[in-house]
Amino acid sequence: MVCVYDSGVGGLTALRALRRAAPRCDVVYFGDTARVPYGVRDDATVSRYAREVLDYLAALSPSAVLVACGTVSTVFLPRAHGRYPFPIFGIAEAGIRAAVAAAPSGRIAVLGTEATVRSGYFDRRIRALFPHAEVTSLACPLFVALAECGYTAADDPIARVATETLLSPLLAKRPEAILLGCTHFPWLAAQIARLFPEAALIDPSAEAVAELAPLLADEVGRGKTEYLVTDGADSFLRAAHRMTGTAVGETVREVSLTV
Ligand code: DGL
Repeated sequence: MVCVYDSGVGGLTALRALRRAAPRCDVVYFGDTARVPYGVRDDATVSRYAREVLDYLAALSPSAVLVACGTVSTVFLPRAHGRYPFPIFGIAEAGIRAAVAAAPSGRIAVLGTEATVRSGYFDRRIRALFPHAEVTSLACPLFVALAECGYTAADDPIARVATETLLSPLLAKRPEAILLGCTHFPWLAAQIARLFPEAALIDPSAEAVAELAPLLADEVGRGKTEYLVTDGADSFLRAAHRMTGTAVGETVREVSLTV
């Protein structure tokens, strides 16, 4: 069984890619819905939330955990090596490699949460691979709320105003690649693509799942998905179905992280 973890609905982009790559893999999707959004909190709080969730998941003995959250991947994971007895994959490295590959002149925009942009992780790692890259990072915390509340359709007027307004500083940069460094943002991909028709939009979850693929070959279960959330089980399941479609063998349960 593989666990996918995010603060809310962002990791569903990874779950969708995982279901396609490994239809018979059993998945536990953990959404920390009682505490979303993570990205506006300070590093110590993000790290505490991540430790609490990963300790909880450790008790389920997963074969691997995919942290489908840019904030945890950039703020906590770089300091968490060797802490858990199972492999943990973040979304940052796969996304960084794909962005660099898609930007021959090095014009890369990184969109993330406030905590992710403050960490400087994406900038540092991109420049390590491509020292002359021209990286522009932009925090777009409002996009997390839009995705959580379902304002994501290609013709949604609220999403249109928000994307046009918040991304306008990027237009002059003419990015070749836009790294969607928060897993909530691919839900707004159609709106973002309309503003930057020339740019490659990089969904790091899809890239991370492709990286996980060799490990998934051994994951032959019944293709079940169990959603564990810390608040609002029914509304989370409705959102998951709206965003990824229904699938057989799905269950949802509200859990508490406090002992
Ligand atoms: N989806 C997460 C990320 O990739 C978290 C967003 C949030 O909770 O603020 O950063």
